[in-house]
Amino acid sequence: MSLIELPPISAPRVDIGAVQRLCAADMLQVDAVIRGELTSDVALINQIGEHIVRAGGKRLRPLLVVLTCRACGGNDIATAARLAAVVEFIHTATLLHDDVVDESELRRGRKTANALWGNAASVLVGDFLYSRAFQMMVSVDQMAVMRLLADTTNTIAAGEVLQLLQMGNPDLSQSQYYEVIQRKTAILFAAACQLGALAAGADETSQQAMYQYGMALGMAFQVADDVLDYTGEVGVIGKNVGEDLAEGKTTLPLILAQARGSAEDVEAIRAAIANADRSALGTILQVIRSTDAIDASLACAAQFSAAAIAALPVLATSPSSAALLELARYSAQRVR
Ligand code: IPE
Ligand code: IPE
Ligand code: MG
Ligand code: MG
Repeated sequence: MSLIELPPISAPRVDIGAVQRLCAADMLQVDAVIRGELTSDVALINQIGEHIVRAGGKRLRPLLVVLTCRACGGNDIATAARLAAVVEFIHTATLLHDDVVDESELRRGRKTANALWGNAASVLVGDFLYSRAFQMMVSVDQMAVMRLLADTTNTIAAGEVLQLLQMGNPDLSQSQYYEVIQRKTAILFAAACQLGALAAGADETSQQAMYQYGMALGMAFQVADDVLDYTGEVGVIGKNVGEDLAEGKTTLPLILAQARGSAEDVEAIRAAIANADRSALGTILQVIRSTDAIDASLACAAQFSAAAIAALPVLATSPSSAALLELARYSAQRVR
């Protein structure tokens, strides 16, 4: 069930099927690494690992690692595939932890690990995935890779704590919101793209361009996620909607709705955030609709997407660089 109509978007929706087909062979290698590394002699780790990994996910971050590697002229796909799997493991670990923190019950169309096995098991298996990612990273044996991933995971953890401190705060500003999403989400996209460049042996200029591309794409991606938390179809996004409000999480749609709404609208939003009141979802959706806050949020996502695209001219023209452009557009317009 769609809670509100998706706004009209002038640009055509991006279909990333062609991008996925372009990378299909490389992504098979990534999948083989993921499956090979997802094992332990402790049964519960295999069970939970399989549960969340088998459910799929979009695999956008690993896709970016192999694509940026190709777009930078790299042919060492074995290393790129290994680093792509590392990034997906780190991402999956953060999802296991995030669903505990957010008390979420649905992920990738399945019951969450915390709903099925409890919080303790989810946190501990998340730790297992994190540390397995670090074992794999060390096996690549490149100091630049280790430094990048150590810094990235530390920033993500700080971002999650920063977000925790802002729970229930309706006064979160747009720039404070951007700081949170840069740390908790965009930085992993940035790292994924720089890792691809590193695996390709690209020069410092190209590495930095890929980092900036990934960062801006990641910002667009999280803004779109925060929009989908209000507008998404549960069957399509594989997560419940209204989770952010239920947690008292102030995201861009609510920041912009407050800036655009009447005094009464603002009061309704502030109370819903402060009380983490899921039952106010219907009222808040009305306010979001009447203030065009979804369109305004998607316009911000489109700006980040444009910033990502602006980082691409450093690359030679190729099917892979064209695919990176498509993924930047997709991140701001996605429906899942
Ligand atoms: C979810 O990421 C967490 C966010 C940063 C919004 P994805 O939407 O990439 O999740 P999966 O991997 O496709 O399930
Ligand atoms: C992304 O934020 C959190 C991570 C970086 C793991 P959300 O809390 O919005 O992600 P979803 O919506 O649960 O996937
Ligand atoms: Mg969450
Ligand atoms: Mg979300």
